[in-house]
Amino acid sequence: MIQKELTFMTESSTQPMKKSGDVEYPVVDLIQQRRSRRAYADTPVEQEKINSLFEAARWAPSSSNEQPWVYLYATKAQPELWNKIYDTLQNGNRIWAAKAPLLIVAMCRKTFIRNDRPNGSAKYDLGAANSLLSLQATQLGLNVHQMGGFERQLAIETLNIPDTHEPVVVMAIGYLGDREVLSENLKQREVAPRERYTQEFFVMNKSF
Ligand SMILES: Cc1cc2nc3c(=O)[nH]c(=O)nc-3n(C[C@H](O)[C@H](O)[C@H](O)COP(=O)(O)O)c2cc1C
Repeated sequence: MIQKELTFMTESSTQPMKKSGDVEYPVVDLIQQRRSRRAYADTPVEQEKINSLFEAARWAPSSSNEQPWVYLYATKAQPELWNKIYDTLQNGNRIWAAKAPLLIVAMCRKTFIRNDRPNGSAKYDLGAANSLLSLQATQLGLNVHQMGGFERQLAIETLNIPDTHEPVVVMAIGYLGDREVLSENLKQREVAPRERYTQEFFVMNKSF
């Protein structure tokens, strides 16, 4: 059904969901360079750089300037806290995230500070902040890999996350390491060309 609707959106009905690995129009270098890699070096992330990541997030736009993002991070130098975050990850992510020197739980406050009403934009705004954080990381030579594959309830319990907050993703961050240590399957994914739908799949200049 969706396929049918999307065909309608495109000029060409023969290739409605064409993907391309190329950047087809100019974009800033950081966008092109950013990738969600899985091979991490043991090198710790400097505290100053960690601060810069959160500073980038800080300057994201948000609905009513509410800034609903909240980050809980741990480095490998804090094994107890790092393990609490790591233990929430689903198996497919644990395999490679075990080497990440920095883990972050990205969450949002569910309600507006000023009136305690539900903030329907909270996750949207957190995503914007995470995008800026990721680009800042790229600029600093760091790799960010966001993961929705984690046990939310376990995170809530072990990290004492209050009911006012919702954990949305865990991020693994670090310098790139040797991809040869990865399993064959993951190695393939590391070297696979990136693919994206071309613009006609998601940009419209007419009504539905
Ligand atoms: C909200 C969100 C959840 C994600 N969850 C996972 C995950 O659990 N495991 C994983 O390996 N990658 C995860 N990713 C990474 C995506 O697979 C990745 O961004 C996508 O394949 C595009 O690749 P790129 O980031 O290298 O351009 C997630 C990304 C986002 C934004």
